[in-house]
Amino acid sequence: MKIRVVNGPNLSLLGKREPGIYGRDTLADILLAARKRAEVLGVTLEEYQSDIEGELVSYIGKSRGEADGLIINAGAYTHTSIAIRDAIAASGLPCVEVHLSNTHAREAFRQNSFMAAVCVGRSWDLAGWGTNWRSRRWPDTSGNEPARLSKFI
Ligand code: DQA
Repeated sequence: MKIRVVNGPNLSLLGKREPGIYGRDTLADILLAARKRAEVLGVTLEEYQSDIEGELVSYIGKSRGEADGLIINAGAYTHTSIAIRDAIAASGLPCVEVHLSNTHAREAFRQNSFMAAVCVGRSWDLAGWGTNWRSRRWPDTSGNEPARLSKFI
């Protein structure tokens, strides 16, 4: 099973960026923890980060047939990008939306997620989601026993 982990704008700055909100782990720290969990399950992770909306749209859109699922932290594009929402839908892949902070407990402009309606799950308030994912079954298109996301991220 191959899962693409997609991170959007400003997430390359984790560790230094507003640590009181996003924690002190860098994106590399988070992805390392996710890879360790993935290895245990025999799941392959492919990682991608871009600050550019169009690049994210292209990467997500071309994931159809190249991956079995998506995990996306679209950063601020979560609240603005219909194009990313459409790319997730167009990919035909199960997608989980993740955030480091509890967006619901923050500014009003962070309350809406354009991604939510096309994702199979959403998680927030998980500083370091690389190690702290809650239990959720991942829809498995291969017919194998579904992996639990909780086991690898
Ligand atoms: C974020 C929440 C967004 O509102 C914000 O713009 C981010 C990070 C999070 O992980 O908590 O860049 O997606």
